Amino acid sequence: MQIQVLLSAEDIAKRVKELGQEISRDFRDKDLVVVGILKGAVIFMSDLVREIEIPLELDFMATSSYGQSTKTSGVVQLLKDLDTVIEGRDVLIVEDIIDSGLTLSYLSQLLLSRKPASITTAVLLDKPDRRQTELVPDYIGFCIPDKFVIGYGLDFDNRFRELPYVGVVGD
Ligand code: IMP
Ligand code: MG
Repeated sequence: MQIQVLLSAEDIAKRVKELGQEISRDFRDKDLVVVGILKGAVIFMSDLVREIEIPLELDFMATSSYGQSTKTSGVVQLLKDLDTVIEGRDVLIVEDIIDSGLTLSYLSQLLLSRKPASITTAVLLDKPDRRQTELVPDYIGFCIPDKFVIGYGLDFDNRFRELPYVGVVGD
């Protein structure tokens, strides 16, 4: 299988640092809870929080909508909920990629019902061509074309998450 590099480890590190600085400025004096969406966001999240220079708490949620397909099934399933109470706190949802937008819309709605002070979203990658919702992420690492990508947390059938770069699979 051929993998074509789309974003190198250096490209990603540079952009993640910028996002961390922006988030540090925007959330100064806030009660920040960073929520990573398992499993895809773990690599991005762990790099991002180390570039954020203000205190924060970490938590995780997990969803599933893809199974072994490269297209969303359209139904988002909650596999793991937060442990943290978020009422009155500032929640930053961190996701690997926004594609249809269904996952982030579903999670934002769910968390909004718990009365946080605010909800914002950060994604490493944005595939705007495929959007089925109105959601616009607050922080975007890179806009990419409508290609299935792997690496830096992103998987195909649970493989390739460990690659230090983002790549496109060819044949
Ligand atoms: P959405 O609900 O369609 O926005 O999809 C979001 C989820 O789909 C992400 O959390 C990813 O797990 C997965 N996903 C979307 N596009 C890709 C891709 O190109 N490669 C790997 N996973 C993807
Ligand atoms: Mg995911």
